[in-house]
Amino acid sequence: MDGQIGSRIEKVGVIGGGLMGSGIAEVTAKAGIDTVVVEVSQEAADAARTRIGASLERALSRGKIDQAEHDAIRGRITVATELEALADRDLVVEAASEREDIKLDLFRRLGTILDNDEAILASNTSSIPIVKLGAVSGRADRVMGVHFFNPAPVMQLVELIPSLTTSPATLTRMQDFVSHSLGKQPIEATDRAGFVVNSLLVPYLLSAIRMYEAGYASATDIDQGMVLGCGHPMGPLALSDLIGLDTIRAIGVSMYEEFKEPLYSPPPLLDRMVDAGLLGKKSGQGFYPY
Ligand code: NAI
Repeated sequence: MDGQIGSRIEKVGVIGGGLMGSGIAEVTAKAGIDTVVVEVSQEAADAARTRIGASLERALSRGKIDQAEHDAIRGRITVATELEALADRDLVVEAASEREDIKLDLFRRLGTILDNDEAILASNTSSIPIVKLGAVSGRADRVMGVHFFNPAPVMQLVELIPSLTTSPATLTRMQDFVSHSLGKQPIEATDRAGFVVNSLLVPYLLSAIRMYEAGYASATDIDQGMVLGCGHPMGPLALSDLIGLDTIRAIGVSMYEEFKEPLYSPPPLLDRMVDAGLLGKKSGQGFYPY
């Protein structure tokens, strides 16, 4: 494959229709691309459909898309429950839960399911080594990280993460796809837990949680401090709730395992909140009620 640009990416698969997967599916469908989302169960598939529908309704009511565009975008998205539904895809973006065992299993199975030899397998992981996902897939040269930001339909940035085994042609195809087909802005990062943005952001969020846990200031005062004092659009605890506390813990654990720096280690309060099912906005309660 090296040196070849490869054919156009016209059929995309998205694994996981949670917070990120549903947003990524909306982005690809908006770009005119036939999109199949795969979820674990019928219940999760229904939830993904509802999530995508609600986001498109919001875009419609805000005048960002008209009724015809809304209907066309919805028409390009299919939600399935079997991984085999991805066999004919040119690109699969895996956005399943941030657990290495789940992702390794998916990449192992996808390696045998994809019909198209040129197809690219990408992971939206925030911290799991891309090289490991490539190794189990049996097609490591066509595996890389493609890290969208939340909410995917709104945020312009996409981090592209080639691993030690990703071919230059795969990276070039994804750069072209992200900038020209999706109209987003890619930056390139090394295959190290956290990439560029989370390496800087996660220690900051964990510090805010430690500050709150120590009783140093209230949640609203910590958040207001950063909004009004630093001009951030949102404070660190509200942002943690938006990202999902389980996701932040998982990224912190991966970064701690990689670098052994205490600043990446999740504080006990974060562990307890996740164990209690207080995951932030997606569960209805985090540092704030929703
Ligand atoms: P989420 O918990 O909202 O969604 C994960 C979805 O994956 C769930 O709907 C679950 O049913 C599904 N799933 C789990 N195992 C599956 C399997 N074997 N096959 C198909 N579907 C499966 O999590 P979220 O936030 O969407 O995160 C997904 C990925 O995106 C993670 O790797 C995370 O690190 C990454 N990410 C998260 C961001 C955030 O702000 N939450 C930002 C950028 C990346």
